[in-house]
Amino acid sequence: MLKMTAKALVCAVSLGLAGLANAAEPIVIKFSHVVAEHTPKGQGALLFKKLAEERLPGQVKVEVYSNSSLFGDGKEMEALLLGDVQLIAPSLAKFEHYSKPIQIFDLPFLFDDIQAVDRFQKGPVGQELLTSMEDKGITGLGYWHNGLKQLSANKPLRVPKDARGLKFRVQASAVLDEQFKALRANPRKMSFAEVYQGLQTGVVNGAENPYSNIYSQKMHEVQKYITESNHGLLDYMVITNTKFWNGLPADVRTELAKIMDEVTVEVNQHAEEINQRDKQSIIDSGKTEIITLTKEQRDQWRDQVRPVWKMFEKEIGAERIKAAEASNQE
Ligand code: LMR
Repeated sequence: MLKMTAKALVCAVSLGLAGLANAAEPIVIKFSHVVAEHTPKGQGALLFKKLAEERLPGQVKVEVYSNSSLFGDGKEMEALLLGDVQLIAPSLAKFEHYSKPIQIFDLPFLFDDIQAVDRFQKGPVGQELLTSMEDKGITGLGYWHNGLKQLSANKPLRVPKDARGLKFRVQASAVLDEQFKALRANPRKMSFAEVYQGLQTGVVNGAENPYSNIYSQKMHEVQKYITESNHGLLDYMVITNTKFWNGLPADVRTELAKIMDEVTVEVNQHAEEINQRDKQSIIDSGKTEIITLTKEQRDQWRDQVRPVWKMFEKEIGAERIKAAEASNQE
């Protein structure tokens, strides 16, 4: 026979109430990233928060942490896997430990422009890569553009030999490492939060980034020259923890996926605008000279780094590289 003392009854009732209270708690989604708010990724994260909280009121709360304020880029992937954050959007250069084929996005001079990138990401290979890490607990929800990278340094870089011997900051990517080695420069891996100081103190002499990252981190204040090389891509994959995502109530997950698709369209429509705005602000600051390359000069850079493709062809897959090249011609 089941006998309950008064004390046990009070306990059971309060546990039940606590359970009800918990059921009413919103699902907290921490979205951590390393850039400033007025960049393509920073704006995308804020828009995702706004739409998610508007459309799922009381059900979902999104906390956005910008500028490496919660986790820097050395730690954010681990934090996602441990469930300490639920959304991050690392640059595509930061996935090599999880998916070798994603290295394709780092190959120098692969895409002619951002429209070609867009076509490739929306095509079968781009879409396949979004789900290529599910066995490791990572689900890709979409690609966000930042844009094409420019080279910066304290000396003018017009032809490849100008970069010889300089120390360049690189993201944690073997492809980018090899890219600078092909120029006979010295790559130094460094987290994004450390770049400004690295450039300021001369630990590194140069870097590569889209205009929005250069301007928002004030890198132009410690770099006298930017060469508009458009030599490579810096885009993002927005990712979540697969277990967390699959464990969401189905209606919430469907709505969040819809919101993510809308935000992706917005970010990708405005990223180029933001980069052009920031390029203009850099020019207006008068602190940095922007160097435009002639076709012949740009071809020299391309020819010098192109052997890097072959070095990674096996890991990436020749067919995938062909598909990316084909996206230039459409
Ligand atoms: C970098 O480390 O340079 C970029 O990946 C930073 C970012 O997230 O745009």
